[in-house]
Amino acid sequence: MEKSSGKKNTAVLISGRGSNLRSLIKYSKTKKSLIKIVLVVSDNLNANGLNYANKSNINNIVIKYSSKKNFEDRLLKLLKRNNIDLICLAGFMKILSGKFIKKFNKNILNIHPSLLPKYKGLNTHNRAIQNKDKYSGATVHVVNKKLDSGKIILQKKVKILKSDSIKSLEKKVLKIEHKLYPKAIIRLLTNY
Ligand code: GRF
Repeated sequence: MEKSSGKKNTAVLISGRGSNLRSLIKYSKTKKSLIKIVLVVSDNLNANGLNYANKSNINNIVIKYSSKKNFEDRLLKLLKRNNIDLICLAGFMKILSGKFIKKFNKNILNIHPSLLPKYKGLNTHNRAIQNKDKYSGATVHVVNKKLDSGKIILQKKVKILKSDSIKSLEKKVLKIEHKLYPKAIIRLLTNY
């Protein structure tokens, strides 16, 4: 498989909307990008993110999730065939097993809509508002076998206003996510 000018061959895994995928595609098209997105994988046939992959002519594949083992075996084969050096999870809703992470043996990143270690898992904005937190934010971290617990690469805060709803907070956090993910990739790949 062709490697373009030292850029890391990257696979993005999605399950839905794909706005982070869209921002990663945008970054990958910049001259200085350190990654080339060669593959988008979704576990959901109806994921809107697949449209962004198609628009940019990026090879995209839906792997139906019948069982974890079956899904991960097929995914690993695909990653090997495409010489993937880096996986970016972007709204991917399945948890990858320790076995898979070990077998892949290269970096896997995830973006999470909270200031980890606060609020691992789902409904982060709801929990931050319920707890009357002053700040929320987003985190990019390395994926390990414990959910949302790997090494933190980069975080950014946003203020939670009294007037914020779950929706408005989600919107604010998503906006910073789109800038944070490319920055975190640069940090990871340049040790900066
Ligand atoms: C983002 O909030 C991300 O942090 C979380 O899932 C959401 C995905 O959104 N892991 P999108 O599909 O990238 O628009």
